[in-house]
Amino acid sequence: MRMIDIIERKRNGESLSEQEIAYFIEGYLDESIPDYQVSALLMAIYYQDMSQEEIAYLTKYMVASGDTIDLSSIQGHKVDKHSTGGVGDKTTFIVGPLVGAAGIPVAKMSGRGLGHTGGTIDKLESITGFKVELTNQQFIDNVNRHKLAVVGQTGNLAPADKKLYALRDVTATVDSIPLIASSIMSKKIASGADGIVLDVKTGSGAFMKSLEDSQRLAEAMVTIGNQLGRQTIAVISDMNQPLGFEVGNANEVKEAMQVLQGEKIADLRELAVELAAQMTLIAGIYDHYDTAVQALEAKLDNGEALACFKDFIEAQGGDSAFIDDFNLLPQPSYNIEVKAHTDGYIHEMAAEKIGLAAMHLGAGRATKEDTIDHSVGITLKKKIGDSIVKGDTLAILHSNKDQADEVGEIVKQAYTISQSPAEPRQMIYRVVK
Ligand code: URA
Repeated sequence: MRMIDIIERKRNGESLSEQEIAYFIEGYLDESIPDYQVSALLMAIYYQDMSQEEIAYLTKYMVASGDTIDLSSIQGHKVDKHSTGGVGDKTTFIVGPLVGAAGIPVAKMSGRGLGHTGGTIDKLESITGFKVELTNQQFIDNVNRHKLAVVGQTGNLAPADKKLYALRDVTATVDSIPLIASSIMSKKIASGADGIVLDVKTGSGAFMKSLEDSQRLAEAMVTIGNQLGRQTIAVISDMNQPLGFEVGNANEVKEAMQVLQGEKIADLRELAVELAAQMTLIAGIYDHYDTAVQALEAKLDNGEALACFKDFIEAQGGDSAFIDDFNLLPQPSYNIEVKAHTDGYIHEMAAEKIGLAAMHLGAGRATKEDTIDHSVGITLKKKIGDSIVKGDTLAILHSNKDQADEVGEIVKQAYTISQSPAEPRQMIYRVVK
C-alpha cells in the first residue's frame, strides 16, 4: 500500500477502505508516513468528506492507537456526558450528581481548559482541598461508593488523535465534520463508558454555527458510537449566548450549586435535566422520557442531587462548607459594573466575546503554561430577550485589577441592543438518536 495512492483516491472523492485507514493511522503514529502526506490527506478529507463507514473506521483506529480505560469493576451501566464546548458550560457539576442520585455511576476523566475559562478540572480546583488525582483503585472505589468521581486525564488515550489534532490546527483542517466527529468519539470510546450522551452546541459561540452543521456533526457522532457498540444520543443545544449567568471558574461552581439547591436558573436547569434524562434512558433507569424528567426535577428540588455532589467533593478531599457559604470560594478584589449606554432590548450576545473578556480577566489560559485565577470571571445581569434602560447593569466583572476598562468594552460590544422586543432563545433544538 502507498500513501500517495490513498491521498489520490480521497482527492478524487473515493471512499477509503478499512485497510487504507488503518495503514495511514498506524504509519502516521510510527512516523513512517510524514506530516506533509498526512496534511494532504486531511485537506482532501476536508473537501471530499467521508462516508459514515469511513468515519467509524477512522475512529476505531484512533482508539486502537492508545490505551482504553477498563471500567468493568464499576458496578452498573456507566454513561458519560460530553459537551462540544461553550461559554459558561457548567452542566457537568449538575448532571454528574443528578444522574448519580438516580443510580448511574459516573466515572469522569476531564481535561484542563485552554481558552476562555478553565476546564472541568480547573473549575473543581476552586474548591479548597479538592484533589484531581486519585489512584485507579481510589477512582473506582469512589464511583462504586458515591456514584461520582472526576479526575484529570491519565493514560495515553487516542494518541493518534492528539497528533492529528496538532496537524489540523496548523493546516486549516480543524472544522471538518468527519475529523471533529472521529476526534471527539475516539477519546470518549477510549474512556470506557457503556453509553454516551453528547451535548452538541450550536450558534455563534459554538464550533458549529448553523443548526444544519450541528445536526450533521451530531448524526455522525451518534452513528460512530452506535457502530462501535456504545449507545449514543446527542442533544443539540443553544450557544448563541453563554449558558446561565456566570462565566469563570469559582463563580461557575457557585451557579451549579444554586441549581443543585433547587434554584430555577432556567436555561441551565433545563439543559442539565435534558442531558441527565437522556443518560437515564440509556442506562434503563426510567422507561419513559416524561417519567425521567419528573424524577430528575424532583432530585434537584429535594436535595438528593446536592447530597451526591457533597459526598463526591468530600471523598476527593474537598471542603464542602462552601456549599452553604459561597464566600468560602476564591473571591476577587473588585466587582466592576458594566452599564448599558442606551435603552432597548437585548437581541444578540456574542458568547465568544464574553469568553474572551473572562480570559482577559485571568479566568482562562491562552497557552498551556498560563495559570488560572479561580476568583475572577463575569456575572451576566442581562441576556437575550431582556429589556434595559440606559444605566442598567449589563454585567459585573470580577477582577483582581481595579482597572478593567478594556474588558468592560469587550463585554459591551458583545451585546447587540435594538429598539424592538426580542424573543428569549430556545435552549434545546433537537435530540438525535
Ligand atoms: N474537540 C475535539 O476533541 N476534537 C475536535 O476536532 C474538535 C473539538
